Amino acid sequence: MESNALQKAQIYENQKSTCISDEDRPVFHVTGSVGWINDPNGFSVYGGEYHLFFQYHPYSTSWGPMHWGHVKSEDLLHWQRLPIALAPDSPWDAFGCFSGSGIETPDGQHMLLYTGVRHEPSEDGTVREFQTQCIAIGDGVHYRKLSGNPVITAAQLPAGGSSVDFRDPKIWWEKAESCYYAVVGNRAADGSGSILLYRSENGLQWEFITILAASRNKWGRMWECPDFFPLDGRQVLIVNPQEMAPSEQGFHPGDNTACFIGDYDKASHHFAYGHPQPVDWGIDFYAPQTLQTPDGRRILIGWMQSWASANAKPKDALWFGQMTLPRELSIQNGRLFQTPVRELDACRCNPTVYRSVRISENQQLDGICGRVVDLTLDIRPADAQGYSFFQFTVAESSRYGTFIRYTPKTGMVSIDRSRSGLNSDIVHSREFPVADRSGCLKIRAVLDRFSLELFFNDGEQAASLTLYTPQSSDSISFEADGAVLLDVEKYSLAL
Ligand code: FRU
Repeated sequence: MESNALQKAQIYENQKSTCISDEDRPVFHVTGSVGWINDPNGFSVYGGEYHLFFQYHPYSTSWGPMHWGHVKSEDLLHWQRLPIALAPDSPWDAFGCFSGSGIETPDGQHMLLYTGVRHEPSEDGTVREFQTQCIAIGDGVHYRKLSGNPVITAAQLPAGGSSVDFRDPKIWWEKAESCYYAVVGNRAADGSGSILLYRSENGLQWEFITILAASRNKWGRMWECPDFFPLDGRQVLIVNPQEMAPSEQGFHPGDNTACFIGDYDKASHHFAYGHPQPVDWGIDFYAPQTLQTPDGRRILIGWMQSWASANAKPKDALWFGQMTLPRELSIQNGRLFQTPVRELDACRCNPTVYRSVRISENQQLDGICGRVVDLTLDIRPADAQGYSFFQFTVAESSRYGTFIRYTPKTGMVSIDRSRSGLNSDIVHSREFPVADRSGCLKIRAVLDRFSLELFFNDGEQAASLTLYTPQSSDSISFEADGAVLLDVEKYSLAL
């Protein structure tokens, strides 16, 4: 039997989503049917299909009591909407079903491990929050919460661990041991983040194993939404530190997504790691989650939004929050590389190609325009004098434009979306270094109506941002101070 809260949300979603036309949404990027979404949750393969859940508040375009929305896909690009999977309707999650993960069990069920949040009045009249880890079991459409919830509580915390900041379990199956493991974000006694490792034979009883990694106030405060997986012979820990200070590794103040590439000894559960690197250098990116495809690829999808600008949205918006494109991960030269899933190649059509075009002033190229496009640029100096900057502008009209500028002398790229349709006092620009290749740079830019995702030098760095420019602003232009030789490949993208 589905609860009233779940039924009510499902009915509401069905009614309201019809008010949003397909043209008013991204083509490839997942949004909620209606209302607000944040973190990707339960990103997993079940029954041979990809399932993606997300933090969801259908009733408004602001964060509220968290439900889990649900979509599925065969190719990570065509997503089919499914009924809302979880509503905050149980004693252990009445304040919200926070983030978590999903996995196919050996007996063919879809198991979700999520954070249940509840509030309790204290004797002093204040309200105390408790976060615990809970299970729901489903068949790919309907999910039933276990009556034995929660399955991981404050009783399984290490000394000094907070029961208020204890969330976002990421589960995996360890084949050699025939058991589950999960990493969970926690606030340690020093006030900063740590990642706890748990083990379970059946998903119901869990034992605390160790503290896998900790900030020790070095890399931000609370660490949210951990993920932990092997990749190219190494082990990767992704965490989302809050309240970070800017650092020479390229982190900006505030919430960041950080990636530690290290080595993991499965017998001792020791994870040896060094300095973290940013996962995305853009403006809107947080709380990614990964899965492994049946053909062995590690795919990451993130929330393409930042908490800091989550109140800045277009007037009259009926949906707010979108996911990034799914990205294939690899490690090359000790760095995390990301490229759009190769399935996107099948959606490319209408190619327009230019080779070695000389750019020395502001110009447009015939056929290079659009708001749902996949654009690859190969930039190099045209002569020995070099050039002082190269800039390209997308989503452009006389009034609007989103600017990407490369300055070879400093090796910096800057992105600027201050004329991209949102007149709010939020972060509109970022600047970051790219590897110096003496004025040579490769950029892949994927535009999908309300976003721009940039991939530099075959995925060595990614940068994401949202934009709300009117769709009629669809010009793309190029400019250089000095002379640049440019190869351009542009495809329209269609489902
Ligand atoms: C990260 C996060 C998670 C939490 C969820 C609540 O964006 O704060 O830690 O589970 O959002 O919606």
